[in-house]
Amino acid sequence: LFFFLKMEESSVLRRADCRAKGGAPGFKVAILGAAGGIGQPLAMLMKMNPLVSVLHLYDVVNAPGVTADLSHMDTGAVVRGFLGQPQLENALTGMDLVIIPAGVPRKPGMTRDDLFKINAGIVRTLCEGVAKCCPNAIVNLISNPVNSTVPIAAEVFKKAGTYDPKRLLGVTTLDVVRANTFVAEVLGLDPRDVNVPVVGGHSGVTILPLLSQVKPPCSFTPEETDYLTNRIQNGGTEVVEAKAGAGSATLSMAYAAVKFADACLRGLRGDAGIVECAFVASEVTELPFFATKVRLGRTGAEEIYPLGPLNEYERMGLEKAKAELAGSIQKGITFIKK
Ligand code: NAI
Repeated sequence: LFFFLKMEESSVLRRADCRAKGGAPGFKVAILGAAGGIGQPLAMLMKMNPLVSVLHLYDVVNAPGVTADLSHMDTGAVVRGFLGQPQLENALTGMDLVIIPAGVPRKPGMTRDDLFKINAGIVRTLCEGVAKCCPNAIVNLISNPVNSTVPIAAEVFKKAGTYDPKRLLGVTTLDVVRANTFVAEVLGLDPRDVNVPVVGGHSGVTILPLLSQVKPPCSFTPEETDYLTNRIQNGGTEVVEAKAGAGSATLSMAYAAVKFADACLRGLRGDAGIVECAFVASEVTELPFFATKVRLGRTGAEEIYPLGPLNEYERMGLEKAKAELAGSIQKGITFIKK
């Protein structure tokens, strides 16, 4: 067994070394919470991503099993597993991108805010590790409530003296993915041809789809606008109820997380014109954080786009979103400051 493990280790090192020498456009990516419902399909999709050269999978359970399984896939990324807090620093050292889906998901009847008690502490610990071991990494934060966990992460990084607002991104891509799908259904289009900006935050009324800015340009009746807005805002609950206690969105979330992570990596590589929605530090409204379209580049969210023209329905939605977001953001900040 010892011989086998040594062989495995040296072949992994050889492959990593070989890729580095070959100058392959490889980034080092860590997933924290990699054995979970989102973590596993996310890890699989990242193992298939040609921009990834090294993939670190960290969890407090089952990380070695998931790693062994994925390591047999004949794709380029070298996978390494890390189990439990003592291995967190090794998991994070040298990473370019850290994706965090660690934490508990919702059960029927719960709001994302109900998760705060458990997930706030998990996110704090993991971000302390990021600040110590890979302070220049881009962080994609998935753990809910995103409206509070992003402010928590920001406060942790500020305390550590490593905060760079451009590098901290709350993942709201699933709201955009759902909006594209539902709008395409109503319009009778292929969802791949539809792009709906979704701004605000990632919970209930803070999820604000801008249906007046859909591409390709189109218009909706008041009934369609109501139906679509409600369905996009409650898409997560639709899945939580259908899963009836077995968790929340995992597969569509893994898809969305990879879509976003891939955009971040293409930005890091220097590709031009990479634009996605994300929940970031922002001056677009009076709130310190807000989700809007951002341009991703070599240093993270390099440009934050304004909201653009809103119609009356959207202006009302924006006021509701801001009122709720203000409380969630403050809750996150207070959690670290107190
Ligand atoms: P899950 O319970 O299936 O997996 C979570 C994983 O995190 C587990 O493997 C668990 O062992 C691990 N974990 C727990 N504490 C940890 C720690 N201290 N360090 C490292 N790993 C730890 O949950 P699921 O379904 O994967 O959801 C994860 C999170 O993502 C939840 O908070 C959920 O609400 C959120 N989510 C966010 C979405 C978004 O759009 N941003 C969409 C869907 C879910």
